[in-house]
Amino acid sequence: MSNVPIISTSLPGPNAQRLIKDDLDVTSPSLIKEYPLTVKRAEGMMIEDEDGNRFLDFMAGIAVATTGHCHPKIVKAIQIQAENLLHICGTDFYYAGYSDLCKKLQELAPGDGSWKVFLSNSGTESNEGAIKLARFHTKRKYIIAFDGAFHGRTYGALSLTYSKSVQRKGFEPFLPGVHHLPYGSSKKMIQNYLKKKGVNPETIAAIFVEPIQGEGGYIVPPSDFLKQIRSFCDEFGIMMVDDEVQSGNGRTGKYFAIENWDVVPDIITLAKGLGSGMPIGSIIAKENVMTWPPGSHGSTFGGNPVSCAAAIATIDLIENGLMKNAEITGEYLHHRLHKLQKRYRIISDARGIGLMQAIEFSEDNKLSPNLAHLFEQSCFKKGLLVLRCGKSAIRLAPPLIVEQTDIDIALEIIDQVLGEMNLD
Ligand SMILES: Cc1ncc(COP(=O)(O)O)c(C=O)c1O
Repeated sequence: MSNVPIISTSLPGPNAQRLIKDDLDVTSPSLIKEYPLTVKRAEGMMIEDEDGNRFLDFMAGIAVATTGHCHPKIVKAIQIQAENLLHICGTDFYYAGYSDLCKKLQELAPGDGSWKVFLSNSGTESNEGAIKLARFHTKRKYIIAFDGAFHGRTYGALSLTYSKSVQRKGFEPFLPGVHHLPYGSSKKMIQNYLKKKGVNPETIAAIFVEPIQGEGGYIVPPSDFLKQIRSFCDEFGIMMVDDEVQSGNGRTGKYFAIENWDVVPDIITLAKGLGSGMPIGSIIAKENVMTWPPGSHGSTFGGNPVSCAAAIATIDLIENGLMKNAEITGEYLHHRLHKLQKRYRIISDARGIGLMQAIEFSEDNKLSPNLAHLFEQSCFKKGLLVLRCGKSAIRLAPPLIVEQTDIDIALEIIDQVLGEMNLD
């Protein structure tokens, strides 16, 4: 159990205020800064700010700190690797960490087929590569993505992203040939849409899908959605690209979230929690799909030796207890959120799988549409770190080391905040 939260100054405290002022003087105004959290140190479930306040972390740096902050085994793996080799470029040369991590991911990949792996630095870079790979392999141009999707912020990935308008506004023109359909669309709905637009399904290279929509609101799709996408892709030779950047890495109690539906995609993208905080991502594709020739895709830093070492140690911890913990504590969290929903009319939905849970606020209240933002600020003031997502939802995505007692503390704070907001 974590001995947190402990809040001993007003927030932000004096040191935090100084840092924030200095930061705002020099940093890009595009950065969001959800609330005035200034992080000096973090350990396990705890984040300590510049004034010594200690917070309970239920957002894991946006679903990244898989093994908790600064897990000793991850730190050790990084230290050992850093003493031996920092960089050599995996695109051009060989080192064991790169292929060891690819082998681990190959073994974890779902289904019976064989897979190949490319290592990148981030989610958006993984999705950029997946767009290229799908087009290269199919020799087709069109791509389908979904309303509410978040696939990244570089041009290819951004062309698929369709979450908040601010993410796209002013950045046109996007990649041509991208169609957005409602998340959860059935095969029939996709066919009807394409017919209306005059698009032949045999010209579509890929369908990009998040098995649980992340930034879009932690939305769990209808139970047969992913199977219908698979079936549509099979019928027309389309690549099913499974974006597991937020939902993967054991967070849902399976290594890949899509395994909760027994569906095997053609291409999988990962990043975020893959290296417990070190920058690393991957494209995992069926061997007969990853057929691009030498020189057609690469990356200077992708699969950096230190990040690979962190990712290998992370997978080891995920396989040896953390994935099981995500399943068990996730069910407990889900159950507690459902109970909360019954007590507060303002909560219109409680949803999620494993440690990817959310509550949605109804729009029918005096604080709408700012309620989720006000709610996360109030949690912050009480020492609980959560993050909003979607229209008016709060996500609960703690590190996979979370214990039932941490969940009890978090739920007590959430209950207090809801009570004090006096919304019922
Ligand atoms: C599902 C999904 N894909 C891609 C990305 C982009 O990842 P990155 O910020 O590492 O580029 C994100 C980030 O939130 C994500 O949630």
